[in-house]
Amino acid sequence: VQPPAKAFAILIGYALLGVELSAQAPSVSNEDCQSCHAEPSMVRADGRPVVVDPAAFGESVHSSFGCVDCHTDLAKTEFPHAERLQPVNCSACHEQAVTLFDRSVHAMIPASDNGPLRCASCHGPPHQMRSSSDPESLTDKNRLVTTCGQCHGDKPVPGLPRGPAVAGLFTDSIHGRALTRTTVAPTCSNCHRSHDIRRKMDAESPVHPPNIPATCGTCHANQQRLYGESVHAELLTKGTAEAPQCVSCHSAHSVRTTALNEWQTTAVEQCGTCHREALATFRDTFHGQVTTLGFTPVARCVTCHDSHQILRISNPASPVSTVNRLTTCRTCHPSANENFAKYQPHANKENREQSPELYYAAKIMDGLFIGVFLFFGLHTVLWFARERTAPPGPPAAHE
Ligand code: HEC
Ligand code: HEC
Ligand code: HEC
Ligand code: HEC
Ligand code: HEC
Ligand code: HEC
Ligand code: HEC
Ligand code: HEC
Ligand code: HEC
Ligand code: HEC
Ligand code: HEC
Repeated sequence: VQPPAKAFAILIGYALLGVELSAQAPSVSNEDCQSCHAEPSMVRADGRPVVVDPAAFGESVHSSFGCVDCHTDLAKTEFPHAERLQPVNCSACHEQAVTLFDRSVHAMIPASDNGPLRCASCHGPPHQMRSSSDPESLTDKNRLVTTCGQCHGDKPVPGLPRGPAVAGLFTDSIHGRALTRTTVAPTCSNCHRSHDIRRKMDAESPVHPPNIPATCGTCHANQQRLYGESVHAELLTKGTAEAPQCVSCHSAHSVRTTALNEWQTTAVEQCGTCHREALATFRDTFHGQVTTLGFTPVARCVTCHDSHQILRISNPASPVSTVNRLTTCRTCHPSANENFAKYQPHANKENREQSPELYYAAKIMDGLFIGVFLFFGLHTVLWFARERTAPPGPPAAHE
């Protein structure tokens, strides 16, 4: 750039800046407003206070703003000003937040005794809002649980609308506990977003079932990847309603550590809510009986099928496919051979195609069982009849 051209550009720059500065300069200063509104005795005609605490405003995120940057209708006013003023338009500076909020579930809720659910419901009184990175802020990661909990908690706050109560469950979960010691734990907004919060059945919601693996996967990428290869994920993508995703097995707000024996036993029941027959037949086996007693080293559903990367049996990569089954049994039964692996972990004596030997053996045992009872039952009845109808015999010789 040539020096004369550069000087010209700088001149233009200053001129533009000057125009902007004069446009921004408040025609009324904050001191003008606070000469009345800082007074604790300042009240409306009906007696309600209209006080703006200068200290609290000074600590808020908007402290560097002029009163009239928000109360724009007072920018060029005479005092005393009108009694009724225009509501403040946040979207003048926060267009994105307002647009997102306006299409959320919260924007649809009818106004309660405390007025409509708006920005102040989460960010606090208008002159005391703080940046979310400020630990004193109501939207700080930890404090957000209480902020959302005003309406989603176990104790109803009078005057506020009630949403489903989940905050208490969350506080007791592994995530809720972790939140008090680490910043990598999730808070409500990690899974629900902060403004564009939707109902779970809304396809745009991050917690709509098909979107859940990606939502949890922002932190649990490895589990998301393994799950993504499973038969369950394949069904979820196809839109099958019964396809399990993360929260079908872990729950949404009561997530627990998976290391505990107690959880492991419940996980078996969880699989069983959809795989009733597999659970019933598993229960009949040695593995199932011992697992029910709460003894861990025995094989459970996920030790044979994997927990996230669950594949169809017909898929050769499955740990219990005909190719891999022996290796899987050998992790606990080191001396197992081909013959041992033929043992059916889900043997069903009612299923002739799956387990013909067991089916016929069971039928023969059933037949034997019924036959024996019929024979002795008939025998007893006939004996009884004989007792009743037989003429009294001759007196015993020795009497
Ligand atoms: C001379 C004193 C005085 C000054 C200066 C003053 N106000 Fe007020 N203001 C009042 C009074 C009194 C009320 C209560 C009106 C009523 O409801 O009766 C009020 C009410 C308000 C309200 C509530 C209006 C509504 O619709 O409910 C706002 C907002 C407000 N003032 C902002 C400001 C701002 C911003 C400034 C500076 C530009 C300012 N005021 C300067 C006295 C003053
Ligand atoms: C970030 C924007 C913002 C700034 C800056 C701001 N206000 Fe407000 N003020 C609001 C909002 C929002 C309300 C709630 C009513 C509404 O929505 O119009 C409000 C309400 C008021 C009220 C009525 C209070 C009541 O309890 O009914 C007064 C008085 C007031 N403001 C004065 C001031 C004064 C004085 C300043 C400067 C020291 C100021 N405001 C700066 C956003 C702002
Ligand atoms: C005149 C412009 C302006 C208006 C009007 C305004 N704000 Fe702000 N607001 C800002 C600026 C600038 C910041 C600080 C920069 C930032 O962090 O985005 C800010 C910060 C915030 C923050 C903290 C964000 C964070 O970092 O977590 C919240 C919350 C907020 N504003 C809410 C509101 C609400 C609610 C209203 C309407 C009542 C409003 N603002 C009106 C300019 C404005
Ligand atoms: C349901 C609670 C809730 C409501 C209602 C809400 N916010 Fe927020 N807002 C949050 C949370 C939580 C964050 C922090 C997000 C983060 O740290 O990722 C936030 C962050 C912000 C930020 C800073 C980051 C950003 O997204 O720009 C602004 C500005 C903001 N809010 C403005 C508003 C305005 C304006 C309204 C009203 C239209 C509003 N908020 C309503 C919860 C809410
Ligand atoms: C780890 C992610 C995660 C966190 C953190 C989380 N949620 Fe959820 N939330 C979900 C999922 C997933 C669902 C959908 C559950 C389902 O399909 O049953 C859900 C559902 C909901 C629902 C609807 C419940 C219903 O029964 O209709 C509400 C309300 C809700 N969450 C609020 C919250 C609040 C408030 C917090 C913070 C205290 C929070 N959530 C924290 C993942 C989360
Ligand atoms: C002022 C009260 C209030 C606050 C604060 C609030 N909510 Fe809500 N929320 C509600 C109400 C009321 C509903 C709607 C309940 C209904 O109609 O079923 C709702 C609905 C929801 C839903 C949709 C539930 C569904 O049907 O799937 C989610 C998710 C949710 N809120 C999450 C949050 C989160 C996260 C926060 C904090 C960032 C929060 N809410 C703060 C009152 C509130
Ligand atoms: C913002 C990051 C984040 C998100 C999102 C998240 N988690 Fe976590 N999760 C964690 C952290 C951190 C821990 C470890 C807590 C600890 O060890 O105390 C954890 C722990 C867990 C555990 C216990 C692991 C164990 O030790 O056995 C499970 C299960 C879990 N999360 C499932 C989920 C599910 C399901 C979702 C989605 C609904 C989800 N998480 C979303 C961060 C996250
Ligand atoms: C079909 C049930 C099921 C589904 C679906 C599922 N999990 Fe798991 N998850 C388990 C079981 C069972 C364990 C315990 C594994 C073990 O002990 O070998 C586990 C363990 C975990 C752990 C602890 C660490 C680990 O890998 O052992 C995390 C974290 C986790 N799951 C997150 C997720 C996330 C995120 C999703 C969704 C992408 C998900 N899970 C889907 C059943 C499931
Ligand atoms: C000892 C290892 C082992 C355990 C424990 C186990 N399975 Fe299996 N599972 C297998 C094998 C091997 C097959 C293939 C059987 C065949 O070829 O008929 C199979 C087949 C299946 C099938 C597909 C066939 C069908 O019945 O539709 C499902 C579903 C299944 N198992 C679920 C479960 C569930 C749920 C549990 C826990 C309640 C469980 N499994 C426990 C090894 C096991
Ligand atoms: C919410 C319901 C649900 C839950 C919970 C569930 N599954 Fe499934 N699972 C399905 C459905 C549906 C299929 C597909 C069945 C089909 O297409 O034949 C399937 C398929 C399977 C298959 C492949 C069967 C085959 O035909 O080869 C195995 C193995 C399996 N699941 C094991 C498990 C295990 C182990 C658990 C617990 C950790 C579990 N599932 C939890 C619904 C569920
Ligand atoms: C996670 C470890 C584990 C896995 C994997 C496992 N088992 Fe077992 N199984 C046990 C334990 C522990 C017992 C208790 C008896 C024992 O100590 O041998 C047992 C008992 C048995 C029994 C009855 C007792 C016996 O030794 O005759 C059979 C049959 C059996 N398993 C078959 C299988 C088959 C087939 C597979 C592979 C599909 C398999 N198991 C995989 C742990 C496992």
